[in-house]
Order: sequence, then C-alpha cells, then structure tokens
Amino acid sequence: MIVCSCNVLSDKDIRTACHAEARPRSTGQVYGCLGCSAQCGRCARTIRKIMDEALDAAATACPAACKGCADGQNP
Ligand code: FES
Repeated sequence: MIVCSCNVLSDKDIRTACHAEARPRSTGQVYGCLGCSAQCGRCARTIRKIMDEALDAAATACPAACKGCADGQNP
C-alpha cells in the first residue's frame, strides 16, 4: 500500500528502512534512508505509526528479552 504519494513509498518500503542497518529514529531519517525527503508531510503520521509497529515487533522478537530491547534502545 502506498503511504506517501509524493515520494511513492509503500508501507513495505518503510518497514524495510526501519530494519536497515542505519536504524532511522525519525520520519526524516526514513525519508533519507529511502533517498527522498518530505514534501507535503501528510504521510508523516502514518510513517511514524509504521515505524512504531516495526520497532515493537523487533523488541518482541528479541530472544534475549533484555531490558534494552524492551526500552527500544537496542537494535
Ligand atoms: S504524502 Fe508523503 S510527503 Fe506528501
């Protein structure tokens, strides 16, 4: 599903960027990871929501279940 019509970014693109080695922490960093920048900004909330879901899933999936993962501080 396209979430950013200005840059033609899909939800999958956002999830892929969230799992990239650079680990973007802001919507601006996600745009940067995907080689673009915010235009109208309408998609920012949706991108943030996808980022939060991706980070929650990564923390839940950690086999060590350490405190850093629960706090979202470890990759
Ligand atoms: S819809 Fe994403 S910047 Fe416009």
